[in-house]
Amino acid sequence: MRLQRIDHVGYAVTDLEEAVRHHQRLFGATVSHREELQRDGVREALLAVGDSYLQLLEPTRDDSPVARFLARNGPGVHHVGYGVADVAASLDDLRSLGVRLVDEVPRHGSRGCMVAFLHPKNAMGVLVELVEDPSLVADLSEPLHEA
Ligand code: CO
Repeated sequence: MRLQRIDHVGYAVTDLEEAVRHHQRLFGATVSHREELQRDGVREALLAVGDSYLQLLEPTRDDSPVARFLARNGPGVHHVGYGVADVAASLDDLRSLGVRLVDEVPRHGSRGCMVAFLHPKNAMGVLVELVEDPSLVADLSEPLHEA
């Protein structure tokens, strides 16, 4: 497998709107996408930074992973999203290397992406998410230049 890019850096926050305003004030950041993910118990705001995102995550219920992270650590960096061409194939490659996975199979993330989390033990204690963005996969199938 090969990493294509840093797709996003995910921050755990207690107040999404305050975090958005903070990033607007300091960095002129604008929200390019909002979504609530029931399964993960979060609502998110994505701030575009070039081709990558800052992902601000606020828990929507007390037993969500982000809520537990906030209770343990307070606000801060929660995970890093690595862009890959094919999450399922990447999981197979990593499994064959003995890497511990949080998600054994890809699942639906935000923006219509397929995602899977790796155990932090495999990445210097950092929670890593593999992200397959179908809009980029489509782009990559297009020729880069006119013939
Ligand atoms: Co993420």
